[in-house]
Amino acid sequence: MEATKKVILDCDPGHDDALAIVLACAAEEIELLGITTVAGNQTVDKTTRNALRVLTLIGMEVPVARGAERPLIRELITAPEVHGESGLDGAELPEPAFGPREEHAVEFIVRAIRGSSAPVTLIPTGPLTNVALALRLAPDIARRIERIVLMGGAARESNVTPAAEFNIYVDPEAAHIVFTSGIPITMVGLDVTNRALFTPEEIAQLARGGPVRRTFAGLLEFYAAANERLLGIRGAPLHDPLAVAAVIDPGVLATEPLHVEVELCGVQTRGATVVDVYRVTRRPPNAEVALALDLARFKELMWRALERADRRG
Ligand code: RIB
Ligand code: CA
Repeated sequence: MEATKKVILDCDPGHDDALAIVLACAAEEIELLGITTVAGNQTVDKTTRNALRVLTLIGMEVPVARGAERPLIRELITAPEVHGESGLDGAELPEPAFGPREEHAVEFIVRAIRGSSAPVTLIPTGPLTNVALALRLAPDIARRIERIVLMGGAARESNVTPAAEFNIYVDPEAAHIVFTSGIPITMVGLDVTNRALFTPEEIAQLARGGPVRRTFAGLLEFYAAANERLLGIRGAPLHDPLAVAAVIDPGVLATEPLHVEVELCGVQTRGATVVDVYRVTRRPPNAEVALALDLARFKELMWRALERADRRG
């Protein structure tokens, strides 16, 4: 087996982020150095509390550091219509068994990367505010980041507006900093994550599992209903777990080296990831863009992680 990858998961739980935490904690291929939280699906107070509640649910104590309360420039936009007022509506979750660290998420990211014995893989699954701030605070960390495997953007799909995906839309300036950093990037966008669905039947199957799976059955029923109501998607799109799965088993995705530019000025197109799919600009690629996925291979990882979480809990 390849050496384990040292990982920091930067997230905005959020239902799919919650499953990304379960997957990252269950994977033998990952050494989870910590979880950092950012404002996105909900306020950072709520996303931090949710990360702690999910870790308590699955019986894991991982360092959690609270991050940016708002994007670099724009006003914060949250998504209660998708994730509810708590950010994890749909099931009862335990009160956190432990609290977040004193240090800010950005300080945690910088310190953990500088102190790591090997290069670190960042998995951002929310707006990129913390990652951008860390790169500006400590440019030296760039050479100690093995890869940024981010859930965000799309070549052809969208969700929050006809042109943009939510994570990039919320903080496009932060995304611009990341995509122009020169750090190896894998972009796990809606082109693949909108197909990484747990069907209603699979969600019902979860309800027949142990306490962790039963909790996620309730969470995913809420989340799937919101996605059907808002986007006509049948099932729960597991956007963020697919980014984690791509670190555990890169074979779950097929990617192309392409140039990606983040639109910062458009009125209708703010936050669009302009992916040069046909390489017409001749600009050098700055990301491996995911354009296809092996759904069965991904779901096998998800089922195994959820079963393991129930065995531990
Ligand atoms: O567009 C989907 C992304 O936005 C996911 O990461 C979801 O959790 C939200 O953050
Ligand atoms: Ca997210």
